[in-house]
This record gives sequence, structure tokens and C-alpha cells, in this order.
Amino acid sequence: MNKTLQNWVNEMAGLCRPDHVHWCDGSREEYDRLLAGMVDVGAATPLDPERRPGCYLFRTDPSDVARVEERTFIASRRKEDAGPTNNWIDPGELKRTMTGLYSGCMQGRTMYVIPFAMGPLGSPISKIGVELTDSPYVAVNMRIMTRMGQKVLDILGDDGDFVPCLHSVGAPLAPGEKDASWPCAPMERKYISHFPEERLIWSYGSGYGGNALLGKKCFALRIASVQARDEGWLAEHMLILGLTNPRGQKIYIAGAFPSACGKTNLAMLIPTIPDWKVETVGDDIAWMKFGPDGRLYAINPEAGFFGVAPGTSTASNPNAMKTMAADSIYTNVALTGDRDVWWEGIGYDPPGNLTDWKGRDWAPGSTRPAAHPNSRFTAPAARCPSISPEWENPRGVPISAFLFGGRRPNIVPLVHQSFDWAHGVFLGSIVGSEITAAAISTNIGRVRRDPFAMLPFCGYHMGDYFQHWLNIGQSADPAGLPKIFYVNWFRKSALGQWLWPGYGENCRVLKWIFEQVTGTGRAVETPIGLMPAPGAIDREGLDTGDAAMEELLTVDREGWLREVESIREYYAWFGDHLPRELVSQLAALEDRLRA
Ligand code: GTP
Ligand code: SPV
Ligand code: MN
Repeated sequence: MNKTLQNWVNEMAGLCRPDHVHWCDGSREEYDRLLAGMVDVGAATPLDPERRPGCYLFRTDPSDVARVEERTFIASRRKEDAGPTNNWIDPGELKRTMTGLYSGCMQGRTMYVIPFAMGPLGSPISKIGVELTDSPYVAVNMRIMTRMGQKVLDILGDDGDFVPCLHSVGAPLAPGEKDASWPCAPMERKYISHFPEERLIWSYGSGYGGNALLGKKCFALRIASVQARDEGWLAEHMLILGLTNPRGQKIYIAGAFPSACGKTNLAMLIPTIPDWKVETVGDDIAWMKFGPDGRLYAINPEAGFFGVAPGTSTASNPNAMKTMAADSIYTNVALTGDRDVWWEGIGYDPPGNLTDWKGRDWAPGSTRPAAHPNSRFTAPAARCPSISPEWENPRGVPISAFLFGGRRPNIVPLVHQSFDWAHGVFLGSIVGSEITAAAISTNIGRVRRDPFAMLPFCGYHMGDYFQHWLNIGQSADPAGLPKIFYVNWFRKSALGQWLWPGYGENCRVLKWIFEQVTGTGRAVETPIGLMPAPGAIDREGLDTGDAAMEELLTVDREGWLREVESIREYYAWFGDHLPRELVSQLAALEDRLRA
């Protein structure tokens, strides 16, 4: 038994004072027992076993529906190390506050000890964490999202290293008190805290998604980004896919789009052009290290998908629909009369009255959404029909291209490519996107900068993170480095309609990227980067007309000059941590636009 782990569990149990401590073995039987217990107390609804075998629906408290960026903290020793994009509290002070909150917080509950691995068991890139939680919902979700249980303890051994992750929903029960169906604490008592130097995570007050499944954003991005900086690798908010052309040549692509901007959909894409194939390695997070051949190899640290439900249909993402058809957990979607699920954009009308995500009766035509916009499914990656045979390869897969993107209704074209690595880092640094429902915000729809889609997930100073990306390029043989692209599926017409059909049709852009990577693409140089030459995007069988295509692929000089101004203001945020290289990149862009 690992003494450090045993001592920590004892100490935290002493602080939180649960009624019981349960060490999760990760078995199917344990998982079924936990779910049955939640059904018994009314926290979970089993779905129709014919249509959705092994599936359950949960409804959260209406206040606990997404990540809480305002209550997320990077408690580095020095405030400056957290940087301007993160909330900071002195670690000593934060620990005192949270120790007060944790004191007795698990009374009337069970503390689950969840040993988990991020990454394939035995991979040199993988890491181990242990989450302590008083939420059985978290325990069952962690079994889908990570490799979890006894097998991880076996690997940890007597002296293995792990990241301690403490979580409580923050709702102790007095003796005899009836539990809420979704216990949580009010906003001002929620804390999603990271102690980067100690590699420690403390989360309190929320049971939802990235606030509570601590292997995901807290460990695999915020803590891992600090480890990656220190050790010379990359921990990124990126999907990973394999793309095979009709001749059987395969490349791997990793892409960073902000939350709810299309990573899951791209990772599972079914190409509309014949004989091309996409295989899914990961849909949210990539850990990448250089291999002996000087190329970057990526693993998906997760074992499941925590995907956005609304908009997912048999037309838009059939692979996701099939993945979640069994052994999956649904959160905050609507329930049909015959115990199936429904959400906006599922592709068919609601079959009669529903129970909405708040548990109220809901009639078709209602002005309120039946499913919460950030309602989600938790589904095992192994169930995905497009899962790559390489998805658990302990060495990872070699990446040939990075994509950056976001929701930009104008200015940013369908696709452009960086001139080189440093210009690509510039493109990553200027990513902007409309704010989505993936985090609680009063500004949904407003465009904000979300550099590298890491704004809410970088565990240190964002300016230093830009420098880390530049260093990665400098330390490597340029021939082995991925090429860098910026895509935008979300351009809108003056009437507010999508200019680009998106989803499966995005393979047309992937095809051009494939050709650029393998040296057969046709491109033209523009002030903002390389763009497809006329006719270089395959439009065979596509409805999109010439005018729309023209709008999608022109450089809007006036718009980009406004963009330059806005980037200059935004860059001031990073003070003297902003790499000089990026200042030069911005000046060079302006010069090219004015030339
Ligand atoms: P997180 O899990 O929050 O990190 O999100 P994600 O980046 O994986 O986004 P996801 O693929 O779940 O897509 C989010 C929403 O965008 C869904 O409602 C999708 O239907 C929609 N979406 C995805 N791809 C496209 C696209 O190509 N075009 C359009 N118009 N919408 C898309
Ligand atoms: C995101 O918000 O980017 C997600 C969902 O992937 S969560 O796990 O809640 O962070
Ligand atoms: Mn995400």
C-alpha cells in the first residue's frame, strides 16, 4: 500500500468527516451498485432498457450547470505566476478558507477514493491522480472518463507519484436530514482551486463537469500545463484525429477550439467526400511529447467523452449518437414519456410532452429550451464506432497538423495556414470566439479572446505559455513540427445564416490540410497567411455556391486592420510577459495588410 496515499486519505477523511470511506475498485459491479443507489434515492432516472440499455439521466440543481470560471483559482505562490487571465488567491489564505469549508463537509455522506490514470495504463506519457469525492455521480462518471480503480493502485505501487484531488459537493447532512437530489453549495462558496507548485487540486461546492471530474480540466489541463512547461512538453485543449486519404496514407491532426466550438464533432466526423476516413483518438485533451524521431506524439489522457448534447443528431454526428446509445450517463437533457432522451437539435420533433431539464412538464412549442444548452452525455470512448485502433497506443500518435479555431461570425476566413511555427503561435495566441454555455456567464454570444482555447485552462501566466510554445518550436527540427492552421466553421451571412455547412463537410477543409502537409496542396500567399488557391477546396457534391465560397475565402483587409487594433489592446494585458516575437508578428501582419 502506498503510504503517502494512505496518510493523505486518512488526513482528508479526518477533516471532511464522512460517515464511510469507500475505495473504488473500478469494477462494473461497483458501478452498477452506485447507480442503483442513486436511482433508489431519486437522484438518477434509468432510461428505457430496450432503447438505451445501461443509460441513466441526472438533473442537476439549476444553479450548477457548467464550469464556474469566476470561482476557479490558480493559487500559485506568486500572483504574477498565475498571470492576468487567472483568478488568484494567496495559497495559504485559500487553504485556510477551504479548510474551514471542508471541515465536516462530508457528514452524512460516503467519501469515495478514486485512483485514476490519465492516459493508457503503462504509457510513459500517462499520469496518475486520486480523487476523493462525496459525490457518487462523480464516481460513476470518473469510471467512464478515466481508467479507474484497483488496476491504477497496482501501478501506483508503494512509492508511485499521484496528483491529489479533493472534491466535495459542499452540502453536509445533519443526522436524519433528507438529501437534495443534486446537492451543491451556493456560488459564493464554490471554489475550484489549483496549487500548481504542489500539484494539488481542491474543489468545493459544485458537482458538475469540469468543476468536479477533477481528472479533466483541473488535472489534465491546469496542473498538467504547469508540468508540461517545466518538463518541455504540451498539455492542450485539443481533439486528436487520424485522417486517411483514398490511397491509404494517414496523418494525425490535433485541434484546439474553445469549449462548445466543435472538437467532439470534428473528432468523430464522417467525411462526405468518398474514400476519406476520420478516426477518433480524442475529443477534448491532448498530451504531447517529442519522440526519438523529433516528432510530437499525442495521447488522449481520457477514456470517455463528456460531450455537448444539444445539436448532436444522426445527421450532424452519427458516431456520437451511436457511442451514447448504451452504458452512458445523460445530464440535464429532457426526458420523453417513454423514458428516452431528447434535446434541441436532436434531429426530430419531441414525441409529445417532455419533462424538461428542471424536471417540469414541457410542451412542444414552449419558448424555454427542454434541455439545458450545456446538457451533456458521458460515454465510453471504446463504444465509439470511429475510435482509432491507435487510441490506446502508449507511445501516442505523431501529429502532422495543429488546428486553431473558434466561433467568429465574420473577418476570420474558413481556413488559413501559418507561414511558419512562430506565426502559428501568433495565430494560436489570437484565437477568439463567441462565449458559449459551457461556462456560467452573462456574456454568452460576445466574442472574447481565448488563446489556444486555453483561457480557462492554463495553470500559469498566459504570456509564459506563449513563450513555452515558441520554445517548443525553437528546440525542435522544423521538419518534424506540425504545420499550423486556423479554421472557422462559424462564418455568418449578413442575414445571420451559416455560410458554411460544417460537420461532415468540414472534411473538405481537412482534405486541403492533408494536401498541404503532404506537399500536394495548392495555396496562395495572402497578408494573413497561406490560403487555398482558387478551386483547391474540393467542392464536388457540395451545395455551397460561388458567392458564399468567395466570402468564406477572402481576406477582409478592413476587418483584419480592426482586428490588429483589438489584438494590440489585448496583448497589453500580458505586460512584459508577452514574448517580443509576438509583438513582431503583429507588426508584420499590419505591414502586410497595409502593403
Ligand atoms: P467542449 O466539450 O465544451 O470542449 O466542446 P467541443 O469543442 O467538443 O464542441 P462540440 O463538438 O460538442 O460542439 C458544440 C456545439 O457546436 C454543438 O451544438 C455542435 O452541434 C455545434 N457544432 C459543432 N461543429 C459544428 C460545425 O461544423 N458547424 C456548426 N454550425 N456547428 C457545429
Ligand atoms: C469544456 O467546457 O471545455 C468541457 C466541458 O469540455 S467541462 O468538462 O465541464 O469542462
Ligand atoms: Mn472542452
